[in-house]
Amino acid sequence: LQEYKLSNYIFWLNMKHLVIGNWKMNGTLAHASEFAQHLNEKLWQEEMLTQIILSPPTTLINYLKQNLDSKIKLAAQDTAVNKEATGAYTGDISAAMIKDIGCDYVIVGHSERRQYHHETNQIVRQKAEAVYAANMMAIICVGESMAEKESGSTCKVIESQIKESLPVSATPENTIIAYEPIWAIGTGLVATKDEIGMVHNFLNNMLNKERVSFAKRYKLVYGGSIKSSNVAEILAASYVDGLLVGGASLLWKEFWQIIKVVSEHQKIMSLECS
Ligand code: PGA
Repeated sequence: LQEYKLSNYIFWLNMKHLVIGNWKMNGTLAHASEFAQHLNEKLWQEEMLTQIILSPPTTLINYLKQNLDSKIKLAAQDTAVNKEATGAYTGDISAAMIKDIGCDYVIVGHSERRQYHHETNQIVRQKAEAVYAANMMAIICVGESMAEKESGSTCKVIESQIKESLPVSATPENTIIAYEPIWAIGTGLVATKDEIGMVHNFLNNMLNKERVSFAKRYKLVYGGSIKSSNVAEILAASYVDGLLVGGASLLWKEFWQIIKVVSEHQKIMSLECS
């Protein structure tokens, strides 16, 4: 019986939806302090069925580690490409250093880094390997541009990003996949339920086909212009295990509202499963 309970518990834990907040290059100490205070209060009042992960700029990780409720996990937005913990690489921050200040996750291959810092799939793969070497999980981002979408090559683009960006050592235990169509990031244009479902189905077939246990699937999260008002529609798409929220994660009220919608959805799902 105990074994049954334990496997049920692990299953339940793995079923938890993720709400990841990506602050990008935003946030001061004053902002982080106000955010932490409000979010902590909310978390103390209500039990949430989601795993919240916050990805502030590196300057605020240490502060948030000390001041946010420990139920919220932290992610860095990037890491150095090399696996060494230290070295003569001016301006770089190693995965080991990120782990040292309290992160459990690192976002790699965000389209803004691919675009503005010319990060190729190969660089993304090396960064993911550095993340694994430091015992953290990589949140690997993929997504097509508007031109690629319009030319009908969305799945082809996603397929090559996955094939080339995921290290051979990637597993559902060390990697989360974020589908973020570039045209939906910061534009107010949200992919429809069908568009999200099509790509998440494709990703699920590609990555999870042979995984018989639901608890051992790669988690697939969607990102791009998420607001509390469009969360329900996004969650209704197939194989959406969570959200990667940019702009809306900076405002604690809006971020909390998003978390609540996801948590409610999770509750309904768990009732349906039981
Ligand atoms: P957005 O950003 O929610 O502001 O569109 C999403 C992201 O880039 O992660």
